[in-house]
Amino acid sequence: MTARFPLARPRRLRATPAMRRLVAETRVRPENLILPMFVKEGIDEPQEIGSMPGVYQHTRDSLRKSAEEAVEAGVGGIMLFGVPAAKDERGSAADDPDGIVQSALRDLAADLGDATVLMTDLCLDEYTSHGHCGLLTDTGDVDNDATLERYASVAVAQAEAGAAVVAPSGMMDGQVAAIRAALDGAGHTGVAILAYAAKYASAFYGPFRDAAECAPQFGDRSTYQQDPANAREALREVELDLAEGADMVMVKPGLAYLDVVARVAEAVTVPVSAYQVSGEYAMVEAAARNGWLERERVILETLTCYRRAGAAQILTYWATEAARMLR
Ligand code: PBG
Repeated sequence: MTARFPLARPRRLRATPAMRRLVAETRVRPENLILPMFVKEGIDEPQEIGSMPGVYQHTRDSLRKSAEEAVEAGVGGIMLFGVPAAKDERGSAADDPDGIVQSALRDLAADLGDATVLMTDLCLDEYTSHGHCGLLTDTGDVDNDATLERYASVAVAQAEAGAAVVAPSGMMDGQVAAIRAALDGAGHTGVAILAYAAKYASAFYGPFRDAAECAPQFGDRSTYQQDPANAREALREVELDLAEGADMVMVKPGLAYLDVVARVAEAVTVPVSAYQVSGEYAMVEAAARNGWLERERVILETLTCYRRAGAAQILTYWATEAARMLR
């Protein structure tokens, strides 16, 4: 005799790939992905980052080529980071019109035009000799308000070089308002701000600090980045950034913070993005190299989970490769 129970059989909707595709609640599209890229001043050949195999510090030329490949693969945007040849206390290269990011942005704007969204990380840590995200006081603290003036100037330099979106990542109080005022004052009312609103003081940024050569020379970032223990505080940071004029907000890192992504996505009506950071990339690449994980499946699974949690966009070093897999 055939069993008549259970009546509810969710497995019916999992029976075939076509059925699973039909009922999937979450989709990842290439245009949801943003590729972070590094361009370094004064090198002749692209340099692979030891702790991020497959990710490069680019020359201006190799950046152009790689950016074009990303756009061809269908990625939604590019987030550019610069590594200057010389650093100083103030991070002077950050707002130099001929600084590396500004030069590279002009290249990409000329090559790619409206085919993608050009974004720039807006911070000082890649440019300061001490590696902190802002200016220091005599006692070595990060001086919030003096830093805002630097960010304002960097924002204008990036906008002038062709950034469509600037993305302040330094976690200074009032940074979005200062940047918005500076952009508007310089006539760049159309340049959007993607605020790294909820950015945690995370050990998952380790490999990035090799890539951007920006490890703090003393101390850490826990007086400005958020404590991993706090989720409600992220909502407060997001609220403040929106009140100051942020057009989009980001949560970072992503994977270990998907609860924060979900809460932020529920709380706001602007697009919420999440950053799959360098440490997440490095963990998967390292495990895959050892044959301990199925690399492609893990990449697609994590991206799906980011979307499921509510991320509209995902910054990921796998953007080009994942976009190709998803087409
Ligand atoms: C700061 C910045 C960092 C990252 C993006 N922007 C490093 C930090 O805050 O120490 C980390 C990105 C990653 O780990 O992939 N400009």
